[in-house]
Amino acid sequence: FQPKVLSGKRVLVTAGPTSEPIDPVRVITNRSSGKMGYAVAQAAREAGAHVVLVSGPTALPTPYGVARINVDSARQMHAAVMAEARGADVFISVAAVADWHVVNASDNKLKKNAAGSAPQLTFAPNPDILADVARMTAGPWCVGFAAETENLLEYAEAKRRRKGVPMLVGNLAQQAMNADLTELVMLDDAGHRQLPELSKIDAARQLIRAIAPRLPD
Ligand code: C5P
Repeated sequence: FQPKVLSGKRVLVTAGPTSEPIDPVRVITNRSSGKMGYAVAQAAREAGAHVVLVSGPTALPTPYGVARINVDSARQMHAAVMAEARGADVFISVAAVADWHVVNASDNKLKKNAAGSAPQLTFAPNPDILADVARMTAGPWCVGFAAETENLLEYAEAKRRRKGVPMLVGNLAQQAMNADLTELVMLDDAGHRQLPELSKIDAARQLIRAIAPRLPD
C-alpha cells in the first residue's frame, strides 16, 4: 500500500532515450530502456499525483493512469516539456537526452558510394531541458538524474549545482542500464542518502516519499 503523499499534485516526468535523425532510416541515440522513468511515473501516480510522462522511444507499456506524450528527438522533448511544465508542481527528469543533434541530417536515405567515402556529420548542442525548467520563475520543483560510470557522488553533486536543482539522483550507469534493479543515491542541500539495491519500482517509491515532504504547500 502506497500512502497518497502526492495527492492533488501535478508531476511531469521524462523517460527513455531521445533519437536524433541522420537520415529517414538512421538515428543517433542513447542506451536507455526507459524503465527507471516509467517506474517514477508509476510511483507518482500510485502516490495520488496527476502524472504526465514525456517519453522518448521505448518498448514499455504506459503505466496505469499516466498520460503519455511520445516524442523522438531532444528538441521535440524540450517543446513538449516546456508546454507542460508551467502547470506542474514537480518535474522529474529521468530521460537520457542526447547532447547533440545532426545539423546536416538528410531528407533522403544516404547512399553508400563506390569510392567508399563516408558521410560527414555535423553536430550542434541540444537544449538542456532540465536546466531550462529549473530556471523558470515559479516553475516546478526539479529533480535530475545522473548516470555516471565513476566518482558518482562527486560528479552527481557537481551536476546538481550546475543544473540549479534542489535534488539530484545518482546511479552507476554500468549497474542500472537496462537492469530491473538499481542502487540510487539522492543528493540535496543536506547531503546524500544512499538507498539499497531495489527493484526500480521500489526505488521510485522511495524517491517519491523523499520528494513529497520537500514540496511547497
Ligand atoms: O549532465 P547531464 O546533462 O548528463 O545531466 C543529466 C540530467 O539532465 C538528467 O536529469 C537528464 O534528464 C537531464 N538532461 C536534460 N536535457 C539534456 C541533457 C540532460 O534534461 N539535454
